[in-house]
Amino acid sequence: MKLNEVVPWGRSLEEYKSMFNMNETDLNKKILGCGDGPASFNSEMTALGYSVISIDPIYQFSAVQIKERIQANYEPIISQVKQNDDRYMWNNFRDADELGRARLAVMEKFLSDYQADNSSQRYLPLCLPTLDFPDGRNAHALRAYRFELCLCSHLLFLYSEHLSLDFHISSIYELMRIAPEIRIFPLVKLDCKRSPYIDSVIQEFSEQGFQVEVQNVSYEFQKGGDQMLKIQR
Ligand SMILES: C[S@@+](CC[C@H](N)C(=O)[O-])C[C@H]1O[C@@H](n2cnc3c(N)ncnc32)[C@H](O)[C@@H]1O
Repeated sequence: MKLNEVVPWGRSLEEYKSMFNMNETDLNKKILGCGDGPASFNSEMTALGYSVISIDPIYQFSAVQIKERIQANYEPIISQVKQNDDRYMWNNFRDADELGRARLAVMEKFLSDYQADNSSQRYLPLCLPTLDFPDGRNAHALRAYRFELCLCSHLLFLYSEHLSLDFHISSIYELMRIAPEIRIFPLVKLDCKRSPYIDSVIQEFSEQGFQVEVQNVSYEFQKGGDQMLKIQR
């Protein structure tokens, strides 16, 4: 699959749980969702009483604008999945059309929650590698949230053709400033090949005294994409 930019495409709470090996203790942590985009993770977690703040540059846009972007990307994504369907595991979805319908349902859930979330500010328009707020406050402002776990799904490593190694390392340092643990999934690129940055990232953070671990997970849609990287300080 080749995409010209990082596209808004959203997954559900069930998918987040298996991508990140989340148990009940993890679910109860104060979670920062990085690059959550139109995932329904935040909406579903909030409805269950858990604590999630999501950050993504698309949150500078209105629900109507995000919906337009999702609609514009829908056909290109689904037709690329159809062209490369041997690269995916079809255990949970029968085919690309069923996948598309499931994704749209997830993104609709996100959109109605996003539209309703005027005051609690669970969706912040921040952008890696520097999490500066539009009013000039920097990533330190996020420390007030006392995050315990950061999850980054389908952004880092997946978009290795678009985002440099420097971008990955700076972004992970920035996230580790505000959360003691980060989990990143998947470790493969859009073409399902292992990201060329994994070894350098592991080396960088191990040398700096972080605990770094590759864990197998039960989620696998892209063939070979069944591992996540966990970094703890
Ligand atoms: C493919 S979507 C994944 C959405 C969600 N995490 C999921 O797995 O369902 C990638 C998201 O990364 C966001 N993104 C792109 N560049 C980013 C950046 N520099 N910092 C934070 N998020 C970014 C995009 O706006 C998009 O919503």
